[in-house]
This record gives sequence, structure tokens and C-alpha cells, in this order.
Amino acid sequence: MPTPSTQPFCASSIIGTGSYMPAKVLTNEDLSKLVDTSDEWITSRTGIKERRIAAPDEATSDMASEAARRAMTDAGVKPEDIQLIIVATVTPDMAFPSTACFVQKKIGASNAVCFDVSAACSGFLYALQVARHFINTGNRTTALVIGAEKLSSLVNWQDRNTCVLFGDGAGAVVIRKACEEEEPNAQGRVLSTVMGSDGNLVDLLKVPGGGSACPLTPENITSRPNTIHMEGRETFKHAVTRMLEASQQALEMAGLTAADVSLVIPHQANARIISAIAERLALPNEKVFMNLDKYGNTSAATIPVALDEARRSGLIKKGDVILLVAFGGGFTWASSVVRW
Ligand code: ACO
Repeated sequence: MPTPSTQPFCASSIIGTGSYMPAKVLTNEDLSKLVDTSDEWITSRTGIKERRIAAPDEATSDMASEAARRAMTDAGVKPEDIQLIIVATVTPDMAFPSTACFVQKKIGASNAVCFDVSAACSGFLYALQVARHFINTGNRTTALVIGAEKLSSLVNWQDRNTCVLFGDGAGAVVIRKACEEEEPNAQGRVLSTVMGSDGNLVDLLKVPGGGSACPLTPENITSRPNTIHMEGRETFKHAVTRMLEASQQALEMAGLTAADVSLVIPHQANARIISAIAERLALPNEKVFMNLDKYGNTSAATIPVALDEARRSGLIKKGDVILLVAFGGGFTWASSVVRW
């Protein structure tokens, strides 16, 4: 059972959002020419119709930097105001330096401390919680939290079980310290976050090769160990259970119930997972945000991209209660409640 975090006196508020999706569209029809699949199978099993693919010379930090610039513009802050950059990703530009350091260089945020967080699809909410701790303890006041992935670089394009699921993209938020007494009406206030992990299940969803446990060699490269391996059915079951539990815990910690939720923004992995959670929380379709039909599963990027799209399309109004919830490899899971 995850340990709930305590409620801070001064809270972190999301004061700006931004996202960037690469231009190239890969449709289900396109994929059916690569592997034995069909638009009908992919749509009915996942809800995905198409996904975006980054250009060969476009790295995760390029997408992250563009999303960050858009979030800073939205928030009205300058690069030099940023004191912390956390990038959640499983597709860093390289093993080191961190992708966050590349972003720092590209956006010119010379006053920031920079590092990456690895929690697969839960990465953005993990990073948000890490940034909250920095902000709530008074260590830093303004942070960029980014979820960015070039999953096309980890996909085995001959494996129909996985290649239909994933896409590339980036989303970012600017968060800033907002104390109750000074700013009682601060928008985007993060009310609660819960996180959990179960390392006993590491083998169900992983990229086994390319790290220190299994470096790539001329002998093993042909079996593609540096691509995503997933036990889909098992992952599906755990995703529903953990995302539901985490949602309920985060709402309880915020002193709210599902009936108070204006919009749930879940990790965009599979429409059937999302529907199962919404049904158990008794949330109608209009309170559930989905854009996976356009982008597929972009891992750590799904939630900040969806949050940005929901805001810009007018779906989030002042005072709304937004429930964010994610699940990913590890297994890891997390949920946050935000009052807009
Ligand atoms: N096209 C056609 N047939 C396919 C395809 C495809 N693209 N992929 C699999 N199939 C076949 C299988 O081979 C299988 O055939 P068989 O019955 O003859 O063996 C059949 O379809 C059913 O396969 P299942 O795996 O049981 O299909 P399922 O309904 O479970 O859907 C899916 C698979 C979409 C992967 C689903 O299990 C899922 O979404 N799992 C969770 C994914 C997820 O949430 N990931 C979380 C985070 S990801 C991260 O952290 C990076």
C-alpha cells in the first residue's frame, strides 16, 4: 500500500501548460502494411487510430524543450525564472547527461537544477511529486515538470503486440509555490498525490537490453532486446486495479470523492482500461478526457499533453477538480488531485 504524502501549508500550483507533438502521423492503416494487423483490431482493442512519430534527427529533449517553451509562455515566466527542471522519460537522449540538462541548454534556463525521473508511464506524476517536495519545503519556487518520449526509438516494428500501441510527444507544466494565506484562489493547486511501486513485477513490462544487465552486442542485437517487451493481459489487469486504488486514495487525501471530480485525465494507454476505471468511479464519459485516438500511448507524456489540450479546448474551468492518474512499467502508479 503506498504511503500517502502529507498536506503542505504552502502548495504547488500549475501556472502554465504546454505540449508538442511531432508532425508525422502514422495511421493504423499504415501499420497494417508493416505487420499482420488491422484498423478494426487496433481500434476495438485499444481505441487508438493514429500516433505521431518524431523525425530521425528529433530527440526527446527537442520535443521536451518545445513543450517547455509553450508552458513558460502560458505561465508568463522567463527561462531564467526556472529553478528546477525535471524530465520524466524512458527514452532519454542518451544514458547521460540527463535529458533535463539538454533541455536546460536548449531553453536557456541557466538558474535551474536539472535531472530526469524514470518511472515509465507514471513518470510525469512521479516528477510532479518530486517537484512539489522541492517547492513545498521552500527549496525552490518555480519548476518545469516535463513528460517527454520518443518511444518510436524503443519499438520493435515487427512485433504487432506492441508496435501498434506507442507514439512520440512531449508535455510540460510550470509549477510555482502558492501559499494559502497570500494566494487563497491560486489556480492549478495540487491538493494531493499518491504513488506506488511493485518491483516484483518488473518482468511484465520492460526493455531488457541496452542497459548494464544486458549490454547490446553484435550477437544479441538481432533478437532486439533493446525494444519494448510487454505481457499485455497481465499489464491490463494491474493497470485497472492500481489506477482505481490510486484515484480513490488521492481523492480521499484531498477530502473529496469521485462525485466532486469535474474531469479525470488518465494515462492514455488503452480506452478499455480508461472505461473500466471510469465505470468503477461512476464517472460519465463527458468527465473522462481521451486523446489516445490521435496519439496512442506516449508514456510519461500522455498526462501533461492531455492536460494542456483539455485546458486549451476550454474543458477546464476555474474551481474544477481534476483527477490525474497513471500506471506504467515497474510496475509504478500514481494519482494527483488538482483544483483549478
Ligand atoms: N493486431 C492483430 N492481432 C493482434 C495484435 C494486433 N496488433 N496484437 C495482438 N494480437 C492478437 C494476439 O496475438 C492474440 O491472438 P491469439 O488469441 O491468436 O493468441 C489476440 O490478438 C489477443 O491478444 P491479447 O494480448 O490477449 O489482446 P488484448 O485484448 O489483451 O489486447 C493489449 C492487447 C491492447 C496490449 C492490451 O492487453 C493492453 O492494452 N494492455 C495494457 C497496456 C498498458 O496499459 N500498458 C501500460 C503502460 S505502458 C508503459 O509503461 C511503457
